[in-house]
Order: sequence, then C-alpha cells, then structure tokens
Amino acid sequence: MAKPSPRERETKRHEVKPTVRYLAELKGKRPIVGLTAYDAIMGKLISDAGVDFILVGDSVGTTLLGYDTTIPVTIDDMVRHTSAVRRSDPGCLVVADLPFGEASMSFDRLLESCRRLMQEGGADAVKLEGGRDLADDVEKLVATGIPVLGHIGLLPQTVKAIGGYRKFGANREEAESLYTDAISLEEAGCFAIVAEMIESKVATVLASQISPPLVGIGSGPDCDGQILVTQDLLGLTVKGVPSFVSPYANLARDASVALSRYVGDVRKKRK
Ligand code: KIV
Repeated sequence: MAKPSPRERETKRHEVKPTVRYLAELKGKRPIVGLTAYDAIMGKLISDAGVDFILVGDSVGTTLLGYDTTIPVTIDDMVRHTSAVRRSDPGCLVVADLPFGEASMSFDRLLESCRRLMQEGGADAVKLEGGRDLADDVEKLVATGIPVLGHIGLLPQTVKAIGGYRKFGANREEAESLYTDAISLEEAGCFAIVAEMIESKVATVLASQISPPLVGIGSGPDCDGQILVTQDLLGLTVKGVPSFVSPYANLARDASVALSRYVGDVRKKRK
C-alpha cells in the first residue's frame, strides 16, 4: 500500500468535521484554521489542505469583483459564490458572509437573507459584522437554527463611516467596548467570533475571557485560531496585501510571467 504523503499525514492528524460544534470544541485543543474561498476550484484546494472552515467572505468584492470596498457586494453575489464553493464538496464547514445593509433593515429581511445563504447557497452558517447592537438578532437567528459566526474589531462594512482601516483596542475604552461586544455575542449564541485588527494583547485577553473560539485576523498569534483572505496568503493580488500578512506564494507574479511568455510564443509562432 502507498505510504501517505506528509500532507496527507498532517491532514489526517487534524481530522476535520463540518459542524459548528466540532469547531467550537477545538478551543483549547489546537488552533483553528480558516481561509476564504469564492469559487469551486479554491474551495477544493483549501478543503484538501485541511482547513477547519471556509469563509465565503464579502471580501469577494475587493479580491475578485474589482470594488474598492466590500460595500457594493449584494446578497445575490454572496449566494452565487457560496453555491460555487459548496459545489466543490468541501469536507469542512462553509460559512457565508452577510453583505452590507442586510442586517440593518428588519429582522424578517435578515432572516430571509440568511435563509438564502443556507438554502440556495448551501452555507452551514452565516457571519455577521457587528457587536452588542446585533445581539438580539443573533439570538433569534440561533433560535431559528442558523449558526452565527460573530465579527468584532475592524468591521470592513463600516469603512466609509470610520474613515479607513485601522487597529482597534489601543485604549482602555475601546478594549472595554470590544469586551462588551464579545460577551454580548457569546450570550447571544455565536459558535465562534472573528476578531479583526485588534491589538494583540487585547485579543489575547479577550480569547481567555470568552467560551467561543476567538478567530483572529491581524490580531496577533494568541487567538484561538486564524482566518486569512486566501488571495493575500497566495500573493494573488495586484493591489498589495495588508501589513499583517506574510504571503506564502506570489501567484500574481507567476501568472504574469506565464501570460507574457504565452503572448510572446504565439506572436513568434512558437505555438
Ligand atoms: O470578508 C472576509 O473575508 C472577512 C475576513 C476578513 C474575516 O470578513
């Protein structure tokens, strides 16, 4: 029988189950790994790498759709990209982002959007940006059977209101406010919470204060796990990457070299 490759051995050691309970229970056992995907090819590659969950993020707007922010992304966009990832048949949890505005109109509208992400898109759970203000709605969604991943700290959907991307938790007031948000979301029933761009020391303390896993992005190494935008990790971007990302590849450069070579070869009749 063929020996398993090192990657197969690694994935097997970290066997992944596609349930929110499994993900929540990883806290304190080993770090959780999440990555974003928006299509079937990346869904398959990421799932085969052994991640614990895929986030179909509204970052699809800035990574694939050419927008400057995530604000123009619609629920139709999210349903289409979530169903593409679902068709890759990933073995891990698939979480879909609720886009801008969908949580702000009425609970019925919020419920309908979550229903679409789960029934039409095939998501296992939804992610909502926001803290204590969303807690009542989160509680009702969870009671309806919709697992919710929270998201605190930098909320990219508020970038126009806050005037740019920045770190959160630098002063005591902000750190306390983050704590209130995290506790409210825990009490509302979130199975895990994303912590974006939170001061590393504050994120470490927060992770120790709540029961659900705190999954960091740009919030230091001591969260209960990490989530990253895959295009940033792979260097598949023409706009550069956030300062906290150390890319593991430069796929944009590799693609550019291959494309130029092909253009040259055809022009010289080498193809
Ligand atoms: O949309 C997204 O990719 C996200 C991550 C940055 C957590 O929300």
